[in-house]
Amino acid sequence: MKTKLLYILGLIIIVGFMSFTFQEDRWTAPEGAKKLKNPVSSADKAESIKRGAKIFKTRCMICHGTTGKGDGIGGKALSPKPQNLVSKMVQSQTDGEIFWKVTNGRNDMIKWGPILTEEQRWDVVNYVRTLK
Ligand code: HEC
Repeated sequence: MKTKLLYILGLIIIVGFMSFTFQEDRWTAPEGAKKLKNPVSSADKAESIKRGAKIFKTRCMICHGTTGKGDGIGGKALSPKPQNLVSKMVQSQTDGEIFWKVTNGRNDMIKWGPILTEEQRWDVVNYVRTLK
């Protein structure tokens, strides 16, 4: 009876530890990135989104898919997979966090900082915002 209880307790601890490490793998931008201010004024938003849509088409669609759901052909064999940018997990982040991730990359997600100008990266962030 006692061994059975210990067994169950051990199982709970293992499962708990696994979900902890799984959460650790979630990509989180540093605290400072959250507060990065989107420099595009609301008057310029529409133009910025238009430019961002073009960038998305040529640079991101291959992996993140035509509608940003993470189902592009270029991402099929990747692990971890390209994120679903429409998801609540992504859309609940601040513009600054998304900008930071686009700039810095991780694993197969390209580090766009040296490739796209700062303006282009904000444009694509503004476009990603319309994918909700
Ligand atoms: C070569 C394939 C590839 C391309 C091209 C690509 N991505 Fe990604 N992207 C990924 C992968 C893979 C991940 C997941 C990385 C991880 O979690 O380690 C990712 C993650 C992201 C995330 C983070 C989501 C989150 O919060 O976890 C954002 C935002 C993103 N991509 C936006 C873009 C944008 C914008 C572009 C175009 C400028 C782009 N990606 C181009 C593969 C790609």
